[in-house]
Amino acid sequence: MSSLSSSSWGIRTSFQLLTPLILLVLVISIFYFTQDDNGSSLNKLDPLSPLSSPSLSPPLVNNNEVIRNNNNDTRKEEVEMLQKKCDYFSGKWVFDNETYPLYDGKRCEFLSDLLGCEYFGRQDLSYQYWRWQPHHCDLPRFNATALLERLRNKRLMYVGDSLNRNQWVSMMCLVDSSIPSSLKSMQINGSLFTFKAIEYNATIEFYWAPLLVESNADDPFKHRVGDRIARTQAIEMHAKHWTHADFLIFDSYLWWRVPFMKILWGTFESPDGVYKDVEMLKGYEMALRTWSDWLEIHVNHSKTQIFWMSLSPTHERSEEWGSTGSPNCYDETQPIMKQDYWGSGSDPNMMKLVEEAIENLGKKGLNIELLNITQLSEYRKDAHLSIYRKFYDPLTKEQLANPSGYADCFHWCLPGVPDTWNEILYAYIFSSL
Ligand SMILES: *[C@@H]1O[C@H](CO)[C@@H](O)[C@H](O)[C@H]1NC(C)=O
Ligand SMILES: *[C@@H]1O[C@H](CO)[C@@H](O)[C@H](O)[C@H]1NC(C)=O
Ligand SMILES: *[C@@H]1O[C@H](CO)[C@@H](O)[C@H](O)[C@H]1NC(C)=O
Ligand SMILES: *[C@@H]1O[C@H](CO)[C@@H](O)[C@H](O)[C@H]1NC(C)=O
Ligand SMILES: *[C@@H]1O[C@H](CO)[C@@H](O)[C@H](O)[C@H]1NC(C)=O
Ligand SMILES: *[C@@H]1O[C@H](CO)[C@@H](O)[C@H](O)[C@H]1NC(C)=O
Ligand SMILES: *[C@@H]1O[C@H](CO)[C@@H](O)[C@H](O)[C@H]1NC(C)=O
Repeated sequence: MSSLSSSSWGIRTSFQLLTPLILLVLVISIFYFTQDDNGSSLNKLDPLSPLSSPSLSPPLVNNNEVIRNNNNDTRKEEVEMLQKKCDYFSGKWVFDNETYPLYDGKRCEFLSDLLGCEYFGRQDLSYQYWRWQPHHCDLPRFNATALLERLRNKRLMYVGDSLNRNQWVSMMCLVDSSIPSSLKSMQINGSLFTFKAIEYNATIEFYWAPLLVESNADDPFKHRVGDRIARTQAIEMHAKHWTHADFLIFDSYLWWRVPFMKILWGTFESPDGVYKDVEMLKGYEMALRTWSDWLEIHVNHSKTQIFWMSLSPTHERSEEWGSTGSPNCYDETQPIMKQDYWGSGSDPNMMKLVEEAIENLGKKGLNIELLNITQLSEYRKDAHLSIYRKFYDPLTKEQLANPSGYADCFHWCLPGVPDTWNEILYAYIFSSL
């Protein structure tokens, strides 16, 4: 305890020093990340057909109740309502500038000049005013105090890539204004970023592991790699940091979007490691198996609640939503209104592999909630960072002449779409009480 507090930064200094540091981290990652992905793998995907399998089963289903009250129609209806209530993933976006955004992006210390598109000169702010409305129910209103109360003496940890980091930053912004600045701290230790609400002894953490398994992109600051290499059999170096979290939220998607992944048997240091190019889906499956095995053996099922964020869609090709203006998400200001819109940035085969992995864990008694946020995010071509972000190198004349060429259509402006992911996570955390 004492070593922890002595090693944590002084609170006041921590915020002065750390805000720029965090921004730096985020900026670097986003920069490298997008550099790395630009144009390469993402354009090589098969066009996707809309998916039509049934949606996720609701978290509040209570079959006993249904049976017990079988002969009471009023009650039965209520229960059915409750069940429906929990399909948060099918719905529509409605314009709501009364209750949204959930926080002021200009005041969240974790955003200032990053992910906060407004700071970077985005004029059209309508992307902040959309509320996700599930078809058969309402999402509970996010209450930061209630969440912190729920997290008292607990650890909530996001694990994955920069999209999960996007969501982590969103969560910090969602609770930020409810905590006086003298009562929070931020600590960075290797790949682990720990935000702490001191009064609650609650932490909201992020662990950088873009492929979940070990890889050559594991450095949280410098992960620009030409040729991605994954050790699909090795996860413990990362996973040992997750074991004691109370809530684990995983994602891993975009870094896998290459036709072939180089897989390493052996260690990075060892001269006799065996490298092999493996078809991406196969590699993804191998990594998910390693991840599953690890969770099954190391995580205390009755203590830790585990979530998987389904893939975050990209909006790289505007012809898919029938736009004739910019070639991608650049300049988009309205959501897609076409029901069930699905773009080629979302790979249903990868989603299926995740669903299978989660199903198999379920059979072994380890319950993982799949938060199926892909469809709802698909509609939001208007909500990506686009060009409203930080750039490391000054943009060249050629670049400036063609803004869509450097638009980021992967990550999301905050306030924005990841806030909705967190509202859904919030609903699940409370529905499990
Ligand atoms: C950083 O994490 C390592 C374990 O990975 C731990 O041994 C060390 O004490 C931590 N450092 C701080 C400053 O918390
Ligand atoms: C997730 O949502 C997509 C799109 O609505 C759907 O096709 C898929 O079956 C869902 N997955 C699960 C596990 O519910
Ligand atoms: C049915 O359930 C409702 C709500 O729980 C209750 O108010 C009502 O009295 C019940 N009716 C019968 C006939 O049990
Ligand atoms: C919300 O939007 C409507 C229509 O665009 C506008 O008339 C109204 O002033 C806005 N309200 C707020 C609080 O911004
Ligand atoms: C938020 O939660 C806290 C703690 O549970 C509660 O006291 C407060 O009334 C809630 N606020 C709203 C607006 O519901
Ligand atoms: C603070 O929270 C941690 C878990 O994050 C827990 O291990 C520890 O016991 C808590 N401290 C107190 C004083 O309750
Ligand atoms: C698992 O967690 C539960 C609830 O926190 C606790 O009672 C139990 O002792 C834990 N089991 C192990 C093996 O640590």
